Amino acid sequence: MAKDADAPMILEDKQTICEYPIHPLIAGRRSTRAFASTSVEPETLASLLEAARWAPSCMNEQPWSFIVATKANKSDFDRLLGCLLEFNVLWAQHAPVLLLSVANLTFELTGERNRHAFHDVGQAVANLTFQATVSGLVVHQIAGFDVEKARLEFSIPQDCEPVAAAAIGYPGNSAELPEKLRKRDANPRKRKPLTNFVFEGGWGRPAAWIRNL
Ligand SMILES: Cc1cc2nc3c(=O)[nH]c(=O)nc-3n(C[C@H](O)[C@H](O)[C@H](O)COP(=O)(O)O)c2cc1C
Repeated sequence: MAKDADAPMILEDKQTICEYPIHPLIAGRRSTRAFASTSVEPETLASLLEAARWAPSCMNEQPWSFIVATKANKSDFDRLLGCLLEFNVLWAQHAPVLLLSVANLTFELTGERNRHAFHDVGQAVANLTFQATVSGLVVHQIAGFDVEKARLEFSIPQDCEPVAAAAIGYPGNSAELPEKLRKRDANPRKRKPLTNFVFEGGWGRPAAWIRNL
């Protein structure tokens, strides 16, 4: 924790400079690209999905599904890996687990469009990610994949939408990454200041109780 209340805080991971104190689990999480070859125990993996299961959702609809592929089933793993764009295959191929989140876009009860489906899938993935961090795992989410290929490959119905893939595993040695990936992983973490997006009284008016650093 910072000694001076007005100074930016450096928590856990030295690259994470916080304006206000946050839990080390959040400050220490990173989307790194180096994975150890160690597999993830089924019990641990199931806990990640259990954490996702307990996320809040609009009308408790729980509009999420997950297609999970582990290296224990190489053919499934390769099918999911094959949906990723080339840049992501480069590093994600070394993760022991790949996952694809899918949003059900219609409410089961009413058949109406669920405007919050993506939001809720994101919350479920956030839960999963924090549970993973507790277990010492890295979750690196991936937008760079072929949505239609994934839909066909895994027979995802039309009223459901593939949202994001993720590579999951124990952290590896970043020194073993190809240079361009190593550089990316070593880049300082950047975030917009709170005053850019916390408003009060109207759009674009930074909340008065946020420190202006
Ligand atoms: C929905 C989503 C999609 C992402 N897609 C990619 C991707 O395709 N390739 C990649 O290398 N990183 C991807 N990322 C990782 C982000 O670049 C990363 O979260 C961001 O730079 C912040 O870094 P941090 O997670 O280490 O704090 C994605 C993250 C999210 C949440």
